[in-house]
Amino acid sequence: MKKTETESFGLHISPSVLAADFGNLNKDIATIEPFVDSFHVDIMDGHYVPNLSFGPPVAKWIKTSLPLEFHLMVDNPNQYYWAAKDAGATKIFVHADLLFDNLGALELIHELGMQAGIVVNPDMPLEDIEFMLPKADEVLFMCVYPGFGGQTFMPEVLHKVKACRELFPDMVISVDGGINASTGVYARAAGANKLIAGTYIFGAKDREAAIKLMRI
Ligand code: DX5
Ligand code: ZN
Repeated sequence: MKKTETESFGLHISPSVLAADFGNLNKDIATIEPFVDSFHVDIMDGHYVPNLSFGPPVAKWIKTSLPLEFHLMVDNPNQYYWAAKDAGATKIFVHADLLFDNLGALELIHELGMQAGIVVNPDMPLEDIEFMLPKADEVLFMCVYPGFGGQTFMPEVLHKVKACRELFPDMVISVDGGINASTGVYARAAGANKLIAGTYIFGAKDREAAIKLMRI
């Protein structure tokens, strides 16, 4: 699948809307839309992770012209691809530890006309997912245990980012969890070319300046 220009060349910034004000969701999104490359939508079911967020019926109300990327933290991700697509998803992230047939999941997502990313939890070794990466449009390294925004970045994940970049020089490699302008520097130095950040961006007094700091 064709990658967008920012994915292929520059640094891609994807704010997680989990940290937005849900009473003013589209207003919040509009404040940063000109400065970012996509939006990250965290769907949590209270089973796979100990937190509930929202589902496709809510995500459907997100108004943006940018790509909308769904991070499925749910027990049965295969059940939700169609609903996610209907809600406007352009990319689906599936957790590598969840499914028996990850390659089948990537194929199904592609068949539905979306891009597909693989998510690697902090404790999962790179070796376990390496073979899937040629079939994925992106690999996302969790830098916190999934479930909540606002957690502290785990630098011990970075050795996997570095090893992955060495193996896959052209891959879109993202990091998610505890990302801000400082931790983003370490992630980029390790080889990440995409930063996903919620609290840091939506919590900033000057969001435009906060995002620009991430790009320095
Ligand atoms: C965590 C989510 C992250 C989270 C990022 O389970 O997958 O996307 O929203 O939030 P911050 O940037 O606040 O760590
Ligand atoms: Zn996420």
